[in-house]
Amino acid sequence: MKTSLKLAVVGTGVVGQGVLHTWHHRGYTVNGYDVYEPTIARLRAAGFACDPMTQFIDCTADMVFICIATPQSEVDGAIFLDYMRDGLHTIGPWLARRHAAGHYPMIVMRSTMLPRLSESEIIPLLEKHSGLVAGQHFGYAFMPEILRETDANMDEANIWQVVIGALDERTGQTLVQMMGEILDEQQRHKLISVVPLAVAEASKVIVNTYNATIISYFNQMGLWLKDLGIDGQQAIDLAMRMCEGSLNRWYGTATGFPYGGKCLPKDVAAVLAMAHEQAVALPQLEATRAVNDHMVKLAENNEVPAPVKGGFRRMSAEMLRGQAVQAYDHYETLTTDKKSVNTQAEAPAAANPASAPAAEHSGNGHADQAVNGHAEHSHNGHSANGHRLPVVEAGRPTLAGSPSQP
Ligand SMILES: NC(=O)c1ccc[n+]([C@@H]2O[C@H](COP(=O)([O-])OP(=O)(O)OC[C@H]3O[C@@H](n4cnc5c(N)ncnc54)[C@H](O)[C@@H]3O)[C@@H](O)[C@H]2O)c1
Repeated sequence: MKTSLKLAVVGTGVVGQGVLHTWHHRGYTVNGYDVYEPTIARLRAAGFACDPMTQFIDCTADMVFICIATPQSEVDGAIFLDYMRDGLHTIGPWLARRHAAGHYPMIVMRSTMLPRLSESEIIPLLEKHSGLVAGQHFGYAFMPEILRETDANMDEANIWQVVIGALDERTGQTLVQMMGEILDEQQRHKLISVVPLAVAEASKVIVNTYNATIISYFNQMGLWLKDLGIDGQQAIDLAMRMCEGSLNRWYGTATGFPYGGKCLPKDVAAVLAMAHEQAVALPQLEATRAVNDHMVKLAENNEVPAPVKGGFRRMSAEMLRGQAVQAYDHYETLTTDKKSVNTQAEAPAAANPASAPAAEHSGNGHADQAVNGHAEHSHNGHSANGHRLPVVEAGRPTLAGSPSQP
């Protein structure tokens, strides 16, 4: 059942426009707000309600999605929050006004938050500027945004994992109901997760750093194999079909104990030794071993459990085959879809007319964008220009061994 909530979107750049489009087309009354006049004019011309932030105090929405720019500081790469603070300064008095009029306004943060940023900075500022108490007088949730800059509207409309970090039950449940409208019953049960705020915040940055890490990991493998005259992409594609890593938690994403058994420590060490002989650096694989060495020490001190004896449990063959066939079919479609590749290559310049206010910082620079841009790049780029990883001193490695290393 559709709720009759009125919505607002503050910050109508890439993410905000995705949110505005999506809820507008789902039949909601939704009003955008921004500080950048050309964006407001363009959205109005396209038939959306959009006003300057100076008029936000008169907003009559029940729920406000905040999608304000949080660019990267050029000084130290940290998240730059001044635009956000500026927006919260305007939103606070609005909260006070809505509360005084008998409402329970809800804030849903869609801008990327670092873990605990909502609790340490955003909510205190909202409380300070409104004189209210979060969770008592107004609601707050963080809903991570997993969209690509080049297909923001489509991704937002077709969200496939809904993570809701809710401070208060009412905001959490309202979002569950709203998101539930686009999912069938089984999906509602399996794809919507209501979790503590900080868990939702952490999940978002893990997605981006994970994507960044695997892209770099496979670039590293590709350059190493290129040095051996091997088609790295073909090997990686095959490896991915054999890997349970991203499907089976026990192989790929379990946390709390080192990897062990015979093959993982042995093969990591063997590849590192071989690459060292080739004078090819594999810094990420070195780091993989270093992290595991640390985990092994923690396990020896009984601070974490020891590696699982006898290996991890596999997923069923049926499940793995099914996933592999689906992934194969889908991958074929993606690689032959030239149109989508071209769109991705061309889109960023035109996609973000609203980014001008952030110009003095390093812009958006999101990992999401890097993922899109880079995915195609990594296939074509390094074989064309033949970049190599830094050369290391040849000879046997003198890497700190650990009890787990053969
Ligand atoms: N672009 C992506 O692919 C993507 C994906 C996921 C998450 N995010 C995150 O979402 C947030 C927004 O990113 P974006 O790409 O939409 O940025 P953007 O630069 O495209 O848009 C941000 C908008 O905020 C507006 N703004 C700035 N200060 C404001 C204020 N005080 N009040 C109202 N509006 C204000 C700007 O004018 C601009 O229109 C960031 O935290 C970003 O990290 C972005």
